[in-house]
Amino acid sequence: MSEQTRKILVTSALPYANGSIHLGHLLEHIQTDIWTRFQRMRGHNCYSVCADDAHGTPVMLKAQQLGITAEQMVAQTRDEHHADLVDFGVEYDNYHVTHSDENKELCELVYNRLNDSGFISKRTISQLFDPEKEMFLPDRFVQGTCPKCGAEDQNGDSCDVCSATYDPTELKNPRSVVSGAEPVLRDSEHYFFDLPQFEGMLQEWLQSDAVQPEIANKLKEWFEEGMQQWDISRDAPYFGFEIPNAPGKFFYVWVDAPVGYMASFKNLCDKNGLNFDEYWGKDSDAELYHFIGKDITYFHCLFWPAMLEGAGFRKPTGVNVHGFVTVNGAKMSKSKGTFIKGRTYLDHLNPEYLRYYFASKLSDAVTDIDLNFEDFAQKVNSDLVGKVVNIASRCASFITKRFDGKLSSNVLEPELVAEFHQAEASIATAFEKRQYHKAIREIMALADKANQFIDANAPWVTIKDESKQQFTHDVCSLGINLFRILVVYLKPVVPTLANQSEAFLNDTLSWKSSQHVLTAHNINKFKALMQRVDMDKVNAMIDDSKENLEPTVTLDPNSPLAKNPIADTISFEDFAKIDLRIARIAKAEHVEKADKLLRLELDLGGETRQVFAGIKSAYQPEDLEGKLTVMVANLAPRKMRFGMSEGMVLAAGPGGEDLWILNPEEGAQPGMKVK
Ligand code: MSP
Ligand code: ZN
Repeated sequence: MSEQTRKILVTSALPYANGSIHLGHLLEHIQTDIWTRFQRMRGHNCYSVCADDAHGTPVMLKAQQLGITAEQMVAQTRDEHHADLVDFGVEYDNYHVTHSDENKELCELVYNRLNDSGFISKRTISQLFDPEKEMFLPDRFVQGTCPKCGAEDQNGDSCDVCSATYDPTELKNPRSVVSGAEPVLRDSEHYFFDLPQFEGMLQEWLQSDAVQPEIANKLKEWFEEGMQQWDISRDAPYFGFEIPNAPGKFFYVWVDAPVGYMASFKNLCDKNGLNFDEYWGKDSDAELYHFIGKDITYFHCLFWPAMLEGAGFRKPTGVNVHGFVTVNGAKMSKSKGTFIKGRTYLDHLNPEYLRYYFASKLSDAVTDIDLNFEDFAQKVNSDLVGKVVNIASRCASFITKRFDGKLSSNVLEPELVAEFHQAEASIATAFEKRQYHKAIREIMALADKANQFIDANAPWVTIKDESKQQFTHDVCSLGINLFRILVVYLKPVVPTLANQSEAFLNDTLSWKSSQHVLTAHNINKFKALMQRVDMDKVNAMIDDSKENLEPTVTLDPNSPLAKNPIADTISFEDFAKIDLRIARIAKAEHVEKADKLLRLELDLGGETRQVFAGIKSAYQPEDLEGKLTVMVANLAPRKMRFGMSEGMVLAAGPGGEDLWILNPEEGAQPGMKVK
């Protein structure tokens, strides 16, 4: 390792202080932590910092809902987040919060420098304002009818139904999500950062290998669309820092959040006597990497480098973008129990399972990563427990019981050992390039070889043969040595397993120590290093995650409904999926050979559906024609003996003649949504 000692600073995106750390966040923190631990093991000066992102409207409103101050909520959430991360083995040198003195000072410094250099301008804009709550509304706090397709309850910036994007002022029937009031347009003076002036610099920076190729391509599209001035101010009430010489105007949260990286590091410098400018100064020779998710690329690859440049600081060496975590093939979902909080995971499962699983899937690409729990259990059980830990458990007890706990002074198969040593270079390259999946693949291929070596020499057989004691000692000792090298390579991924192995091996595992062999060395008694993943615990974790959604209204335990519930409850999300529509019964007729069914043709105002309904006992077809009813319009079509049924009509009653289809009052129109 002739490489010089590098000076490196890495960051993970700052989690918002208004929600819990979940498995999506953890992908990022684990990715960062593995890289940091790897660099440190290699002897580099690698610092890592993070913080809670404290500011903005959602944090402010959540604190109001809870009836505490934003400061109180943020302090509490920061501590929770930090504890969650520590328990996943994620170790930052500093975990700060953006609502801090350091951050306020640095934000003002950055802003004043930008302003002095002429990169800030002011202009009056018109925005939606909540007259009841007396505040301007960010896009996501306005809802209304999509101006393009007419879908109701769409967000202020985009429509979930037709994917159109628009300005919140274009929404029809807009409502404030905060108060329900109809927003009005109001003028206000805003501060803008002159991003277009940095276009040339950004183009150049993007060609410096600072981002992955797919990100560089995405950014090219943005350049083609043309850069816009960036609105960096928000009006009071806003939880944030006031802009210097601009009473009532606050920095938009996305201004002070990335400056929060600097502030967390500044706080560390003040505690540890590090030199801030060595890392952030214009002439810094340190490397700076930000690990982020793909959703916040724009902020980190355009605004942030431009702000740094404009304010006379260095730019990032690299922005490392990862994809999103999906669980069992789908977006994390609260109703399915796959929106799993870090703490809920920790209540049931070993954090190193997750570190290992993510590592086995992580690459330097921006692709999403699926956490499939069957695959998760299978991989952890077969790789970590079945291959790696198994090597030690097969060899250790013989060393302890028969050879005084001391490894042999012979090295039985030098070629095999050499192969383990030589793998170091390509495993290191894989970690360095964030191709963790490749590193893991190589390590597991070595583990297979170690197991084959033990199988071929069967120490559990030779131990019984007095004449083969030396041989048995040599085999078991080599097994332990191969195990040891594997643990060196795995140490950035599973630090706890590595620490326990260090205790067992009576040795400290640096990266370089992968090149050693322990001979005539005392080891300690082996204790089980890792349990297999228990699927029952996985399922219990998923059940616990579902509980987060249980209705907040609790029934009086003495009420008849609580003692004998009519039916299992469903979540609001499940209910919201049912699309109920008014339908006009255009045609109704008997179905040959069916004794319960009528065939209905339902007019949904532009669309006709055929539905077979079990209401023959109660209605003559001719009595139904022309009537309005309510149907489930989004039920998957079902093939019945008599044809396709494309929906369901709602009816109530004990049955027989006493069965009534829902029959809405006049004024209802076919196709209308029922709420
Ligand atoms: N507060 C901002 C970041 C400011 S950085 C100066 C933010 N916070 S966040 O809590 O929403 O997200 C924090 C990080 O977690 C982001 O990098 C985001 O991409 C990542 N993830 C959030 N959900 C995720 C998944 N489901 N999967 C993977 N990463 C995800 O954005
Ligand atoms: Zn739409």
